[in-house]
This record gives sequence, structure tokens and C-alpha cells, in this order.
Amino acid sequence: MTMRPLLEIFRNYVMARPEPVVAKWFDGFDWNLEERKLPALPLDPIRHLPGVISHAGSNEQALTMAFVEAGPDLNWRRSYTPEDFGQYFFDNYAHVELIGTKGHFASEKIAAGLVLYGPHIDYPNHWHVAEEIYIPMTGNGEWSSDNQPHQNRAAGEFIFHTTNMPHAIRCGETPMLALWAWRGGDLAQKGNY
Ligand SMILES: [Fe+2]
Repeated sequence: MTMRPLLEIFRNYVMARPEPVVAKWFDGFDWNLEERKLPALPLDPIRHLPGVISHAGSNEQALTMAFVEAGPDLNWRRSYTPEDFGQYFFDNYAHVELIGTKGHFASEKIAAGLVLYGPHIDYPNHWHVAEEIYIPMTGNGEWSSDNQPHQNRAAGEFIFHTTNMPHAIRCGETPMLALWAWRGGDLAQKGNY
């Protein structure tokens, strides 16, 4: 099945963002991307998807719902093995590359998609060469950037990591969904930690 309607909703959300960084990355970006026929890969962690709906921000509802509905048909992935951050992390985290070098839509310039973290996920400090945009769709996560203390971030807040800036993420009782985008460096890099 085509993911083009999902890409359209993703595009609408991104292009409505007011941040200069988003404009710098996406002004002039050609959204007419070639679609890859990727197999559905409904990894076990997507059992948490329905749990994000009630926590989505009002501006984030449409994109959240589109991802929840497309969930079983998406090509979910994991960057890590259980040896990296433990079995619990492995069993409760997954992401989708909607755009990118291996994602549903082909781009060598930008990688972007959504990531799902289950309850009580504790994603320790990690970093990567690519610059990174994070926008939580749900407001129940705690985020740390550049070795600062974790802080609660509301749905729709804008989080930016410069190249190789350490960052960490925690969830409480409820799962969290977040938009991510990478630019620069190796777009398929596994995070260092
Ligand atoms: Fe990151």
C-alpha cells in the first residue's frame, strides 16, 4: 500500500512549523519523493501505539492519528540490539524512517520519521554526527540535551541537537511518540553512547 497520504500529512505538519531551522532544512525541499515498496514490519513495540492518542497535542492530533492508523503497515525498525541498552529497551522502542536513505520515501539529504518509546523507557545519553530535530507528538516525556538535567517537554515543543550533542530521553507511565529529522553526516548512523 502507498504511504503517500501519510507523507502528505507529515509534510503539512512540518511545513506549518515556525522555527527557522525547519525553514532552513525544508524550504526548497522537493517533497515529490520516490516511494520504495517496503514490507510491513509491525515490530512488537507498536503495541504501545494506541496508548499515545490520548496524550497527543492538539496540533499533533492529525499526524499522530495518521501514524497510529498506518502503524501495522509501516516498516518499523530498531537501531539497537539488546546488548546496547538492555532487553527492556529493545522490546519497547521502535522507529519508522518515512524519508531517508532506506525509508519509505527516498532522500539522501534528509532522514525523517517518527519514533515510539514505551512506558518507562530510559534512553541514555547518545550522540551522532547528523544534526537532529525532535518534536514530541505527546507531552509526557522527559528530555535532556547537552548533558543538562531532564525536563518535561510539552507536545509540539521544538528540540534541536547540533552535531554530536549528547541527548537522552525518558518516559513515565505512558508511551511517547515523537517526530525526528536528521540532516548531515551519515543518515544511517547508529548513535554513539
Ligand atoms: Fe538523536
